[in-house]
Amino acid sequence: MLTDKMNEALNEQINAELYSAYLYLSMEAYFQSIDLPGAANWMRVQTQEELVHAMKFYDFMNERSGRVLLKPIEAVPTEWDSPLAAFEAAYEHETKVTARIHKLVDVAREEHDHATESFLQWFVNEQVEEESSTDGVVKRLNLAGETGGGLFMVDQELAQRVFTPPPAQGQQQA
Ligand code: FEO
Repeated sequence: MLTDKMNEALNEQINAELYSAYLYLSMEAYFQSIDLPGAANWMRVQTQEELVHAMKFYDFMNERSGRVLLKPIEAVPTEWDSPLAAFEAAYEHETKVTARIHKLVDVAREEHDHATESFLQWFVNEQVEEESSTDGVVKRLNLAGETGGGLFMVDQELAQRVFTPPPAQGQQQA
């Protein structure tokens, strides 16, 4: 059973994860529009990962007899000044998500909800990866320059990213 406060905080996080998916899908559309298929692929994979994150919260809440209430998803930006600006925005966004996850851990501790605190550890670790992967692309774009051969090479590298679906229910690590 979840306390009302914990339930509300987890519902807000489902919304934040769905917003993240919407944001990265918008970035995919931007990269499609400027003919960078590798960056578009990277964002498609990121969108799929965010949907997995949202569903992890969704399933956890139901498992704990919580009440999932889906809220409106805020509008997302649709244009960025450059590929670098888009990935900088992605990194910035991930730092905000990390802060949200840490706040959720604080709420779980305040509510003495050990099960939720334990569940959230997967996300604490995941956010290290999320910040590192977006920051990694920012660094590569800075090194490569924003036009010509360097950008083409980074785009080819981003095309390699593949979505790995989570293990089937019952075999999940977290
Ligand atoms: Fe769901 Fe990118 O964190």
